[in-house]
Amino acid sequence: MGLDRIELTGKRYLRGEFVPPSDKSISHRAVILSSLAKGRSSVKNFLRAEDTLSTVSAFRALGVEIKERGDELLIHGKGIRGLKEPGNVIDCRNSGTTMRLLSGVLAGSSFFSVLSGDDSLRRRPMQRVIAPLREMGAEIWGRDGDKYPPLAIRGGALKPVRYSLPVASAQVKSAILLAGLSAEGETEIVEPLQSRDHTERMLPAFGAEIAVKGLSVKVKGGAELKGRDTIVPGDFSSAAFFMVAALVMKGSEVVIRNIGINPTRTGLMNVLKRMGADIAAEHLREISGEPVADIRCRGGNELRAVSIGGDEIPLLIDEFPILCIAATRAEGVTSIAGAGELRVKESDRIKAIATELRKLGADLEEYPDGISIKGKAALRGCEVETYGDHRIAMSLSIAALMAEGTTIINNASCVDISFPGFFEELKRLAKD
Ligand code: S3P
Repeated sequence: MGLDRIELTGKRYLRGEFVPPSDKSISHRAVILSSLAKGRSSVKNFLRAEDTLSTVSAFRALGVEIKERGDELLIHGKGIRGLKEPGNVIDCRNSGTTMRLLSGVLAGSSFFSVLSGDDSLRRRPMQRVIAPLREMGAEIWGRDGDKYPPLAIRGGALKPVRYSLPVASAQVKSAILLAGLSAEGETEIVEPLQSRDHTERMLPAFGAEIAVKGLSVKVKGGAELKGRDTIVPGDFSSAAFFMVAALVMKGSEVVIRNIGINPTRTGLMNVLKRMGADIAAEHLREISGEPVADIRCRGGNELRAVSIGGDEIPLLIDEFPILCIAATRAEGVTSIAGAGELRVKESDRIKAIATELRKLGADLEEYPDGISIKGKAALRGCEVETYGDHRIAMSLSIAALMAEGTTIINNASCVDISFPGFFEELKRLAKD
């Protein structure tokens, strides 16, 4: 990651059409399931970004043939038992999804492997995958008393478990589901709150037996997955930056095409509506088992503060930084609680956004599990830090457009983790 600086000046509004980059979560899962399936699969509209390419390199290191044709992947899967021992440490770089989902796959693969990553990933909690995978019989260890990466895994025969997740996490749920594929019998996972369900939606399409009932997901081990074609919709989380920018800047009108609107991902849209924003989904359809729409955002409505917490949090977990930017424009005090998980994302996102938004002039209070923001304080351009976190970088870029004067964003190239071309799109849509 470079130490590059981006300079952005305040703009008046955003206008135009925008096709967001492909969904990161679904792209990871399509590569993983295609690699575990027998035979040929394709992934159309695959997200070519740093995180998802880490998953591609990982499966190549495990012996899977993956060809890239533009934004289409052609994958020749070897079956669940067909992966081979990697000759080196697998570098997951910045990607928590790669590391956690892969740990579930490797727990059931009878060879030795080591997973590591960049400075940020090596500080992220891994006990949450180690504990359930050990319960299933895997030999798996982590640094510092099993807290952090690198992870060392000696996979083998697994037994099914019934596991209640202590925190809502789609990554941990998916790791256990993937391990459950090779366990003998039925594995059940119960979540405290609903998290994104892309794995549950995709698994049956590859031939796995899944039963979802409320917050419980069951998977039958032993089924053979068969290759198939997957089309990846646009990423709601990437579109969110442009959504908020358009909604808070008077005179804006942006149509976001082909965006995934899975209800486990669209919490931000519900909150923005509650705040009074003019936002509407059109042309609802389905692509590869995921709901998709075009979303029209018109700026200028006065926004009012709202309280956000409880079961809404997992549905907007990645949108916290950009939601904070929207809150600076709302009348009253917006509060977000029950979001302590944000402290262990690519950065401590509560601290990062509180520190940098304060520099820009926002009036806010930081809490262990959230934040409160008193809206309508004028933002003024200044120099801000991204902490190498893509979503902090993009959120601060939108704040910079709303601010008076010029903002310098240090270490901005981390946007490539999920949204290569972000600054070009911003330049194209933002008008003086
Ligand atoms: C993801 C799950 C979420 C999310 C992350 C992607 C996934 O993480 O924050 O960006 O693709 O499963 P957690 O499972 O840690 O909540």
